[in-house]
Amino acid sequence: MINRRKFISRTALAAMGILAIPAWLRAVKAASPVFPLRGNTPMVISTWNHGYEANEAAWKVLESGGSAVDAVEQGVRVPEADPDNLSVGLGGLPDRDGHVTLDASIMKGNGECGSVTFLEHIKHPISVARLVMDKTPHVILSGEGALQFALENGFGKENLLTEKAKKAWEEWLVKAEYEPVINIENHDTIGMLAIDKQHHIAGACTTSGVSFKMHGRVGDSPVIGAGLYADDEVGAATATGMGELVLKTLGSFLLVEFMRNGYSPQEACEEGIKRIVEKIPGYENFQIGYLAVNTSGETGAYAIHKGFNYALFRDGKFELIDSDYYLKS
Ligand code: GLY
Repeated sequence: MINRRKFISRTALAAMGILAIPAWLRAVKAASPVFPLRGNTPMVISTWNHGYEANEAAWKVLESGGSAVDAVEQGVRVPEADPDNLSVGLGGLPDRDGHVTLDASIMKGNGECGSVTFLEHIKHPISVARLVMDKTPHVILSGEGALQFALENGFGKENLLTEKAKKAWEEWLVKAEYEPVINIENHDTIGMLAIDKQHHIAGACTTSGVSFKMHGRVGDSPVIGAGLYADDEVGAATATGMGELVLKTLGSFLLVEFMRNGYSPQEACEEGIKRIVEKIPGYENFQIGYLAVNTSGETGAYAIHKGFNYALFRDGKFELIDSDYYLKS
């Protein structure tokens, strides 16, 4: 227990900022005032090739003065509705029992957030997550409860298992070996971050998760702080790849906290990957890709392996960019 004298001296130190921030960090923060710059907006960044079409939808919202949260919701609905996309929404590869189960989260820079996990039969889990944020006192709804909430709010129940995904599952069933692999196929979860003309930041993250996963498995994407985090005072981050590694290091929250402490978005992404490398044996068997943006609209991206790319729309330039990565040989 802290006695009164200790409490007073801690309070005094905290008031001077000494407990909260180490000396080296105070120097970094003084040298690089990240927070007040606020340029380079609107902008939107998102994971993988499918981020390009998603960004186009988000950009329409941002360009017309819409909010970052509307932009990211509208943006990620594009791959969610694409039956040819095997890792998000409709057409996502099922779990090993043949169920397409979806995870999604959405977060505003003011701290409001919502998510759904293990949701079946609903093509747009991101919009259910949005309603969890806007209409309930909760952050996460899961499984049957999330489905019930969606149906009560007018979402239609659909079969999300397309013929293409069913065929892939049936081929997998022949051996039924559960071996999550490095993703080199230029798609996976879509994580999207945007800043609007009012300088508010928001993010969305949505996925069908690891293909042929155990029934009931939930990844990082719907876990606020793991697959997604946003803070108007600092920036935002999102993750793609093997969710267990991101969950074990609470990756997106970690990246935002690195930025809060003076790191650039690129440095934050690299430190986030370094944390995985240092803490998780066998990390080299999996891919993780991180994206981060600060309130100035500066961006960062980093992955474990070659092959991660992202779409960045900013300053009238619409680009698909290959990310730098850790394992160079
Ligand atoms: N990153 C998506 C997942 O692991 O489910």
